[in-house]
Amino acid sequence: MCGIVGYLGKKDAYPVLINGLRRLEYRGYDSSGIALYNGDLEVHKSKGKVDDLENLIGEKKISAKMGIGHTRWATHGEPNNVNAHPHVSNNGDLVIVHNGIIENCNSLKQLLLDKNYSFKSETDTEILINFIEYVQAEEKVSLDQAIRLALNEVIGAFAIAVISKKEPSLMVVARLGSPLVLGIGNGEFFIGSDATPFIDLTKKVIYLEDGEMAVLSNNGVSIRTIESDEPIDAVIHKLQIDLNSIEKGGYNHFMLKEIFEQPTSILNTIRGRLFVSNAQIRMAGLDKISEKLEKANRILIIGCGTSWHAGLVGEYIIEDLARLPVEVEYASEFRYRNPIISSDDIVIAISQSGETADTLAAIKMAKEAGACVFGICNVVGSSIARESHAGAFTHAGPEIGVASTKAFTAQVTVLAMIALYLGRGNGNLSKDKFQEIAKEIELIPAKILSMLDLDDKIQTIAKSLYKSNNALFLGRGFNFPVALEGALKLKEISYIHAEGYPAAEMKHGPIALIDENMPVIVVAPRGDMFKKLVSNIQEVKARKGIVISITGYGESEVKSLSDGVIEIPETLDCLTPLLTTIPLQLLSYHVAVQRDCNVDQPRNLAKSVTVE
Ligand code: G6P
Repeated sequence: MCGIVGYLGKKDAYPVLINGLRRLEYRGYDSSGIALYNGDLEVHKSKGKVDDLENLIGEKKISAKMGIGHTRWATHGEPNNVNAHPHVSNNGDLVIVHNGIIENCNSLKQLLLDKNYSFKSETDTEILINFIEYVQAEEKVSLDQAIRLALNEVIGAFAIAVISKKEPSLMVVARLGSPLVLGIGNGEFFIGSDATPFIDLTKKVIYLEDGEMAVLSNNGVSIRTIESDEPIDAVIHKLQIDLNSIEKGGYNHFMLKEIFEQPTSILNTIRGRLFVSNAQIRMAGLDKISEKLEKANRILIIGCGTSWHAGLVGEYIIEDLARLPVEVEYASEFRYRNPIISSDDIVIAISQSGETADTLAAIKMAKEAGACVFGICNVVGSSIARESHAGAFTHAGPEIGVASTKAFTAQVTVLAMIALYLGRGNGNLSKDKFQEIAKEIELIPAKILSMLDLDDKIQTIAKSLYKSNNALFLGRGFNFPVALEGALKLKEISYIHAEGYPAAEMKHGPIALIDENMPVIVVAPRGDMFKKLVSNIQEVKARKGIVISITGYGESEVKSLSDGVIEIPETLDCLTPLLTTIPLQLLSYHVAVQRDCNVDQPRNLAKSVTVE
């Protein structure tokens, strides 16, 4: 997500800011910008990478001792030069960078429009800086007080840094919900969304807490509460962490970080959408096509790779809860096989990046045939998001590791909410059943959090697998697609040949492969298919296969048959994929690490496949 940097001191601010922005690149972003104070305010911003920003600035000599910078991951408004931060207030005096979302920006904007303010961008941030300007003019107070008063009117999340044309050596920062760290140097200050931007320049940091603001100046730093202006004693911490690890948020690999982010990413996916008490799903994209959904004869789901697997889980859940026929297709097959598409079809296109060429082409074909296209994407402003008639963002945050992890669970979560919406809408799902499932969805993040403690155990189990050349993944029902996804993860990052199979199909071929060298990973959570899966495990064991089971706590029979057991919490059958996937991700990760593979950038693979 967005990253903030800032500098105030005796050094040349420009290189400090540019290096800082580069260090924040890991967060994922689509545009960047800087503002420097050199007697006037000088602002440069560019869509694309920090390289693009540097190219834009070129050889121009920028000399300044204070400045702020930003990498933006678009939320309000598409990624372009205008929406990129920093944003300047109407009178040109104030400039801001911001990470977060101002939820009441529309009402603040209306207030400002009524006072003849104008806006260049589509961002909530530009509204905020103008609101600060307005408050300062109305209340006739200092900049820090104006910021404090303005922030007391704001609903939402923010980490901000503001500088002013009229204050040559003053920077005001504040946070609520979004991170902000202050670096204390020798007569100089750094700020960052994390310590990455200045880790080589100082090890002394102050972590600003939620609801706090800091005024940085030549006189030092003063920290206060935003609400009541009460002074806070700053606690200076010493950074223990090196540059390499902090770039990945303290994790060895982006993939591991992203696996561990899933409790939060799923929470973000459901936030503001899932309402248990009144049995309601609020998704603007679904409401937009509600008439089409009412008339729909069937749903076609298209996607590639992991997104296709999420689609398969979606098929099981939607058919189960909404009793609407669903077909799932690889976008690359769909686009070339002359499929039958009718204007009463709803096509759900799933894509993390929103840029996969085959999925995009399949969408265009479906639209030409008159179908209504609903996109499920992670990247705001992406081609697939724009090309779809309606859609829902997964809000999983940037996914940097090539092997998709948190995007998959976010996609499945969105599909589960779609199933609830459709089931409620067409009367196939009772209010009670809706509430039972919705309540369970709310519990999923905490359950995943508890499962992350399994990491050490899974690392040990991986030691028994990492020398294998093959692996078989078995699952049934809702967890058949999970078996496919588990196999894909293993082959993507560890280059072990792996196949996912519906467990009962094993008898029709794969069973011939089983001997004492074949690891078989069986996804066997408690639920309708459990007994059948125990029989499948017995069949593997009878042929001396190495069994690794993912099952419920205390399943003694499975335990006695397995060489390795990963016990997971219970949930409703249709939601088990959200839990069973996690240990498979960790297992692949540890196997790949033990095989010394490049986990985040596996050979021959790309994060976003923009050619067919
Ligand atoms: C590539 C990535 C996969 C991803 C697939 C589809 O193969 O390596 O992780 O699942 O593309 O990408 P999308 O962005 O459309 O979900």
